[in-house]
Amino acid sequence: MKTTGGSDEQKQRAGEKAVEYVNDGDIVGLGTGSTAATAIDALGDAVTAGYDIRGVPTSLATRDRAIEQGIPLTQIEAVDQIDIAIDGADQVDNESTLIKGGGAAHAREKVIDAIADQFIVVADTSKLVETVSEPIPVSVLPMAQTPVKRHLESLGATPTLRSADRKDGPVITDNGNLVFDCAFGSIEDAESVSQSLAGIPGVVAHGLFVDLADIVCVGTEDGVDIYPKE
Ligand code: 5RP
Repeated sequence: MKTTGGSDEQKQRAGEKAVEYVNDGDIVGLGTGSTAATAIDALGDAVTAGYDIRGVPTSLATRDRAIEQGIPLTQIEAVDQIDIAIDGADQVDNESTLIKGGGAAHAREKVIDAIADQFIVVADTSKLVETVSEPIPVSVLPMAQTPVKRHLESLGATPTLRSADRKDGPVITDNGNLVFDCAFGSIEDAESVSQSLAGIPGVVAHGLFVDLADIVCVGTEDGVDIYPKE
């Protein structure tokens, strides 16, 4: 798993809190990243205690973690609905707009988080911002790399092809795509940027999640803050 900043204790508090929203019998979307992993571990404990749930993983890494934790898995094609999804974020703003895709799993994450009846975001306090501003991960069909890059630049972005850490060349996602990290600066109109990115031929998915999160659980030094405020 990639290394991110933030406090492990805060992440764990957020993950454990999110699992309190899961009911026995639920189909659960399993997010990707170090914070979502804490929820997967807590779900494993719930399964050991007798919960009958099934997980739908958003990445190969998450599939492996869920198997290690003894969580029965299913596939999106095999279920009528996903009751709840729990997933992390790289940034969360005041409107619960998210930037995701630090682990390049945002394409599957968006599908699963968007169709879940309830989508719960788990984060530590380092992820909270007034306005999202991190480069937006955009996954792209490999054959469309050059035209998509030009199109992204025409929208005002500075796209950087994500390089692999321990392989020469680019990151290839679980779906076989490339990722451009697109710096736009501070994103005031997230809906408009989201639509522009989604409309580029060759773009598979982007990591700006607008109006998708239902609840945000933020682990703090001594507890968990829930947004919208309960
Ligand atoms: C993966 C994601 C992750 O949820 C996001 O990068 C946050 O990761 P972490 O909890 O490790 O900080 O979007 O594609």
